[in-house]
Amino acid sequence: MKHLIDIKDLSTDEINHLIVVAQDIIKNKERYSKKCEGKKIATLFYEPSTRTRLSFEAAMYELGGNVLGFSSSSSSSVSKGESVSDTVKVISGYADIIVIRHPKEGAPLVASMKSDVPVINAGDGGHNHPTQTLTELLTIQCEKHRLTDLTIGICGDLKFGRTVHSLIAAMARYKNIKFVLISPKELEIPDYIRKDILEKNNIEYYETNNLEKFMPNLDILYMTRVQRERFFNEEDYIRLKDSYILDKTKLENAKDDLCIMHPLPRVNEISVEVDDDERACYFKQAKYGKYIRMALILDLLGIK
Ligand code: CP
Repeated sequence: MKHLIDIKDLSTDEINHLIVVAQDIIKNKERYSKKCEGKKIATLFYEPSTRTRLSFEAAMYELGGNVLGFSSSSSSSVSKGESVSDTVKVISGYADIIVIRHPKEGAPLVASMKSDVPVINAGDGGHNHPTQTLTELLTIQCEKHRLTDLTIGICGDLKFGRTVHSLIAAMARYKNIKFVLISPKELEIPDYIRKDILEKNNIEYYETNNLEKFMPNLDILYMTRVQRERFFNEEDYIRLKDSYILDKTKLENAKDDLCIMHPLPRVNEISVEVDDDERACYFKQAKYGKYIRMALILDLLGIK
């Protein structure tokens, strides 16, 4: 039985296969509309979510399956003190596949050890969010038509942003990828990403606090939100939250085919005036998330 807890659980061939299937689903939606008839997905969300939970649910409905679950721990027996292990053991008797988001790093891994059905990590603390990474890869493939030979700027909260860590780990597998890591000093990438991924794989990267300086070089600009929920101190959050606000002026020297991405939710880091720019891909990105999750559900359920 396969689970998806960390993007590292998937080989590059498996990732590429999911992207091919997702692109086929986009082109041939009707062909997939009954693939999961009689199957159920359970979405166990101990932390808020709009895109991840609802795109998983939409994915299962579009595959002809059904959905159950909870969207906050307060509406389940977790509020009475039930453990993740017991919850998952019980739910794996009700559903064919489980999606779990939890504020504690490692909780989905624990869930996978207790579950009788495949478990998907939908985000665990500041650690991992593998289906968001698959979403980014499908977006890049669809919008840039390649996953190689790209200069990727990642801007904002590189310390707590779980999507950033998984994205760097995933893109580091492809040829001729360069990273420009743009953040205030306090929100730089963790040292293990620098040493264990970038340096170990001889990836070219630059660390800077100057977005405008590197803008003309970028093929992709991945903006991120400063993660209020991960800060220990409200004062630090307030000081850092508006470090980068992408607006039309900052895009003046950008490439014509720049792809602007953001995992969403956005707070202030992309001005709404950018939404009409044809290089803005973040709402399309959220939609691609549904298709890659459809491909993943089929794969983990062993449905061709
Ligand atoms: N990108 C993302 O994970 O969004 P949600 O928190 O709304 O699921």
